[in-house]
Order: sequence, then structure tokens, then C-alpha cells
Amino acid sequence: MSHLSERPDQSVVGQSMPHEAADLHVTGAALYTDDLVGRTKDCLHAYPVQSPHAHARVVDIDTSPALAVPGVVRVLTGADVPGVNDAGVKHDEPLFPDEVQFVGHAVCWVLGETLEAARRGAAAVVVDYETLPSIISVREAIAAESFQGAQPTVERGNVESGLEQAAHVFSGEFEFAGQEHFYLETHCSLALVDENGQVFVQCSTQHPSETQEIVAHVLGRSSSEVTVQCLRMGGGFGGKEMQPHGFAAIASLGSILTGRPVRLRLTRNLDMTMSGKRHGFHSQWRIGFDDSGHIQALEATLTSDGGWSLDLSEPVLARALCHIDNAYWIPDIKVNGRVAKSNKTSQTAFRGFGGPQGMLVIEDILGRCAPLLGIDAAELRRRNFYANGQTTPYGQPITQADRLARAWDQVLESADVTQRWAEIDEFNWSHPHTKRGLALTPVKFGISFNLTAFNQAGALVHVYKDGSVLINHGGTEMGQGLHTKMLQVAATTLGVPLSTVRLAPTRTDKVPNTSATAASSGADLNGGAVKNACEQIRERLSITASAKIGVPPADIRIHDGLVTGLGSDVQVPWAELVHAAYFARVQLSAAGFYRTEGLHWDSRVMQGSPFKYFAHGVAATEVEVDGYTGAYRTRRVDIVHDVGDSLSPLVDIGQVEGGYVQGAGWLTLEDLRWDESDGPGRGRFLTQAASTYKLPSFSEMPETFNVALLEQAHEEGAVYGSKAVGEPPLMLAFSVREALRQAAAAFGPSGTSVDLGCPSTPEQVFWAVEEARAAHGQADGHVDEGFPGHHPDEPDPDAPTRMPESEVAVRSLAGG
Ligand code: MTE
Ligand code: MOS
Repeated sequence: MSHLSERPDQSVVGQSMPHEAADLHVTGAALYTDDLVGRTKDCLHAYPVQSPHAHARVVDIDTSPALAVPGVVRVLTGADVPGVNDAGVKHDEPLFPDEVQFVGHAVCWVLGETLEAARRGAAAVVVDYETLPSIISVREAIAAESFQGAQPTVERGNVESGLEQAAHVFSGEFEFAGQEHFYLETHCSLALVDENGQVFVQCSTQHPSETQEIVAHVLGRSSSEVTVQCLRMGGGFGGKEMQPHGFAAIASLGSILTGRPVRLRLTRNLDMTMSGKRHGFHSQWRIGFDDSGHIQALEATLTSDGGWSLDLSEPVLARALCHIDNAYWIPDIKVNGRVAKSNKTSQTAFRGFGGPQGMLVIEDILGRCAPLLGIDAAELRRRNFYANGQTTPYGQPITQADRLARAWDQVLESADVTQRWAEIDEFNWSHPHTKRGLALTPVKFGISFNLTAFNQAGALVHVYKDGSVLINHGGTEMGQGLHTKMLQVAATTLGVPLSTVRLAPTRTDKVPNTSATAASSGADLNGGAVKNACEQIRERLSITASAKIGVPPADIRIHDGLVTGLGSDVQVPWAELVHAAYFARVQLSAAGFYRTEGLHWDSRVMQGSPFKYFAHGVAATEVEVDGYTGAYRTRRVDIVHDVGDSLSPLVDIGQVEGGYVQGAGWLTLEDLRWDESDGPGRGRFLTQAASTYKLPSFSEMPETFNVALLEQAHEEGAVYGSKAVGEPPLMLAFSVREALRQAAAAFGPSGTSVDLGCPSTPEQVFWAVEEARAAHGQADGHVDEGFPGHHPDEPDPDAPTRMPESEVAVRSLAGG
């Protein structure tokens, strides 16, 4: 067992406890950035002037009518920027644009005594535009060859010869939508300037250090003159990894120019029309299988819709390319990626960061091809699982294949899958207008930032003379429970009760140069750093204790606030030891540091071992589809998920449940629409409120929802044997979409393959049902009869089941 992963007996990590701020969340007492406004004197409010055009040159801005509006204090324009007029790290995101790139793009910002004054001022600003041609959909972008950034390829073996030798080749196209983050707390920054010109920005940001950097470069100052603090976020989900920077810069600029605090909080409508979302993708693929259903070769081109600027589109695309294999061994493979440039919001990180998009492509392929191969979809998936010793297409060895197999078997057993498949067959036979489906899908998700440099973290731990402990670390809290875990890590390492440890808000002047709290690695990285800081202090205290107890420092034990020595009866309370150490002039504070070892990645050739390990999970979802409307409900979900040795089981189970539901929202409910017409509304984001953008709510929750954490899952390479949990469970939701596909297919004859639009809304499911019905031949009254669903027998892997060659050819998706 490694030193990092080794866990003491009866440790605080591993105990189930509620989120550290749960009582504050549910009573409304928890402070979010915007709650500070009421406590801040003389605060000004910022409101944007938004472009009505998808693409236009800004010819002139007349701000004078705004200044005539009562309560308007100032209008911020590009002329006010003392530093670099750019909100990003790629220098392709002008903060005040000369050319607007999407409907809703902020041209300038009005500061008012009240939000209402600022809003009315913004409405009064007169902007003269010269409209330009625009590109809205990803298909338009592909046709116009409108791309941005690098076009990487992940390649292994020879895909052409692999496809040539395959017994069955299918090809197809699949386009799927993005997703709005819909964090409960919209983007918010509150900036103040002190008497020395030092800028202090409170910001709802997952990446305080980068927010600090961008604010500094916009203001033309050094990073040391800017401090960013994040109390907590009301959800980030990746949407606050890069997008807060420009808003923080506007608030800071306003504060510098007026000398007053400036608050910038987007309304829901502003947030939805201005901030980036999950990337939708277009994909094109060819896949080859051998006679027994083993994947031989895959060729694919993934085109993500990046919106108007790069933002995080390149790393998101890289992760998509590195996850198209999901859990499956693909000997010959070539996957090309590119980022479309379109006149929409700049799409960004969203839970899974491209991983879900890459994996959705292969899961969709398997779901479509299984009936064509005459193999049950679950069996097809299982048969293609990686084995240890194989490598991913980008060259990383697989070492924990057994975990996925174990999780799969556990779900099969605990969810009674085989028996329920039989019951579903029975049900489908006797219900012509309602069909059920039960699908299993696996998740294998790489943990670490692809960019090796980001895999570092810092912490600052203080022990005060009275024995109380205050910890700071570089991670941010967005509801995922990172702070809860860090408290548990500190208590475990120091050997004190949890109540001894407090946690202070994330600030760039406490812990510098931090990475975004992202890639699910918050607990791995910051946990490593907190543990390191606590170990330094503990080592020093062991020397003091050694003198008091009379055993060597290595024999000192500290547990639950009691200090003992091996072979000694002397017991010293923690606070007494700390007190003694202070008087012995022992340093009671430490800065901790952690970097993930053993990573390497060459982004030019897209090869290496970019991930410390993989997180695994398996889900089984059962749905019921109404044949008249396509409406459906989720009857039951069973999940087994690998979080290593959990740092905090209740938090982890919450993450698994939340991730699954958010994934189900992306795949089945949430339907982003832009006006793609040539009318005057072209480029307008049409679903800009909860009234038109359907999120999962209680009524869509699975009727039965069982989540288990995989047992015996110690992770050598991570803090106290744990694994990251934040993003991977989102992808368990593939099982709901595949269950819908199977239920829709059950309206057709056995062996029907259906295409299913994504998001698989009731409307899309209805069309899939229609497609399946059409496969009956000319349906004259057939609909009223009962039809058996395709029988989900698990075939013997040694006796491959296949369809007659002719039928495969007929049902091949586009030749092959
Ligand atoms: N859980 C909640 N409640 N709110 C969030 O915003 N973000 C997710 C995930 N779980 C999120 C969440 C995303 S996108 C990531 S990358 C991780 O949490 C980040 O936190 P971690 O690294 O501490 O897991
Ligand atoms: Mo998460 S998408 O890595 O913030």
C-alpha cells in the first residue's frame, strides 16, 4: 500500500456524514457571492447591452442617452480598458467586441445605482451595427469549413485494413445536443478596490487563480494586486471553470473607474443567453465487428460545436477523443476531431468535459448495431470489455479491468436483471401499446487533467495555540462536498476529531497558482496537499510529544485528539501537546503541496498515459414507453460505482445520484434550441428560461433508485485509497437512453434496430417507435396485436448468434 493511500484504522475519512454546509444550505443561511451585496455599502450594479444580431460589426455606440437615465453612473466601453481587452486565455475573446459574434453578446456595460437603473440605461444605449453573414448550426459550420483550433487525431493500428477484414461493417451519422448548466446560482462577481488600489473580487468561480489572472491582465496590473475569493458556488458543473473571468473583469474595471464596489450578477435569462454550454457534437463513423461481435475497427470524425470562441473547446475535444473507446477494446482505430466555429455562445466545460460526448458515440453505435448483429446489446457490450494488459487507443495500459467486470456482475445480480428481462418480454408480449426496456451500460472515465501541469495543488494549514485547526486549500466548493472531504482528510492526518477542524473560503492570497476545481480531481489534488501540510505539522508535533511521553517520535500515535506512545501509558490531550509545542517554539503552520506522479501526455500525437487511474461504474435502467405519445417513465435504476475506498460515502452516493440524474436530463429532456431560420430572429437562443428548457424534476426521478459503491476498491495512487467521483456517474445515464431505444424497438419485430434522436425526448422516442412499427412491414391493424419484444437471452459467448447475411446487409445503416 502506498503512503498516500494508506488509511489508519477508525479514520474520520470513510465515515458517512452530511455535507459540511448542509444545514446552511437547507435553511437558506449559506452565503453565496450575491448575498454579500446587501452587506456591501454603496454598491453599483452592472447590466449589459446585448447584441440582437448573430454576427455584426459594431459601427458606433452612443452611450449618452444612457447617461440621461436617472441612476445611471457610467457606461463601460472598450476605451476604458487599461490593459488587455480580452476575457480568455487564448486571446480570441475580446471583452468589448468590435464585432459581435452571437445574439446576446455584450457590447458594453452600464453601471447604475440600482439594477433597474442599469437595465434601463442599457436599453437606452444606441448601437449601430452592420450585419454580417452568420453560421448557426454545426452542419452549416461543417459545410462552410468554419473551424477553430487544433484538429487532433487519435490513432492506433490500421483502421482501413481492420475494416476490410471485419465480417460486418456498419456506418452512420449521429448528431446530438449540448446542455445548459442551469446551476441554481447564476454567474456573479462583486469587486472592491481598497485604499492602495488592491482589487478584491468575490466571484462564483471554479478557477479563482485564472479569474485573478484575467482580471489582472484586463486591468493592466500584476496578479499580486488582485485577490479572488470564492465562498462557495450554487453549482458550477464546469460552467464556472472559464466563463466567470470576463464578468469578474467587468466588475473590477467598474470598481477601479468609480471607486465603488460593483456587483455583476446575471439574471437567469442573461446567463442562458450569454454563457457557454456543453458542446453538442456531430459524428460520422464506420465500425467493423467479427462474427462473434468483437469490435475490430472504428473510424470516426467528431465535430464539436464550439460556438464563437475557443474557450475550453480544445481540451474538451481531446477528452472526447480519449473516451470514444469507453470500456471497450478496439484494436484498429482512427478518430479525428475538430471544433466548429459558429455564432453562438462559446461552449465550455460541462461535467464530463467531452468524455460523455465521446462515449455517447460508441454507446449509440453499439445500441444500433446489436440488433443488426443479432446479439443482445448487453451481451455485445460485455463481450467487448477491455482485459488487463490491453491499452487504450492513446496508449495507456488497462490495469483494473476486473473492477468493471465485478460491477457488471453485481448489477446483474442485485438488480435481478435476468429475471426482469423475462418479465419484460412477458409484459411486452401482452401490451401492444406500452413497452418496457432494461439496458445496462458501463462507464470507464479517466481521472486527471489531460494537461499534466494542472495536476498540482496547494494547501495552508494552521494549528492555533488552543489546538483548533484552520485549513485552506486551492479547491472550490460547488455543492460537490469537496470541503467536507478536506475536513475529513485533515482530521484523519492530524488525528483529531472533525469538530477541531474548520475550513476557510478559497482565496488566491492564501493558496496561489491553483488549478480549476475540475476534472473531478478536486479531492485527489487538494486532499494530497492538505494531507501533506498536516503531515508536516504532525511530524513536528511528534518530536514534542516524544519528549513528553518518552518514546521515539516514530512511536507517537495521535488518534481522536489523544496523544499516546507505543509501550507507554502516558496520554496527552491534543490541545496540551499543541500548547507545549508553541512554548517550545515549534512552527504550527504549514503549506502543503501535491502533484500527481506518473503522468505523461504528448498532445501533438495524442499518446501517453494522461490519467492517474480510471473510475468505473455500471448502471441498469428500466423504462416504460407509451406507444401513442412516446412519453416514458423510468421505473428502476440500479448502479454500482467505483469510488475507490470512499472518503465520504454519503457525499459520494449523492454525487452518483446527482450525476446520473443530470446525465439523464442531458440525454432525454433538456432540449437546447437556436433559431436556425433566415428570419430576423436568426441565431436567437430560443430556450432561455425554465419554461421552455425542461430540467429533470421530482416527477422524472426513477421510481426505484439503488446506488451501491463497489467494495474492495482501494486505489493505490490517490489520497487515502479513494477515487474521484464528480463527473463519471453522469455517464451512467447512457443506460436510460439505451433502455428507451430497446423499448421503442420492442414495438417492432424481433431484431429491430432503431435510430434515436438525442436528446431522446418523448417526441424523439415517438419517432423511434414509429420507425420500429414500420419494420413490421405494412402495419394494417398490427398495432393492435401483441408482439414479442426482442428476446434478451444471454447467448453463449462461444456460440455466436448472428443474423442471416442478407438481413445484415439490408439493415446496415449506410452500407458496409
Ligand atoms: N456536484 C455539485 N453538487 N455541483 C457541481 O457544480 N460539479 C461537477 C461535480 N459535481 C458539481 C458537482 C463537476 S463538473 C466536477 S469537475 C466536479 O464536481 C468538481 O469537483 P471535485 O473535483 O471536487 O469532484
Ligand atoms: Mo468539471 S466539467 O471538470 O468542471
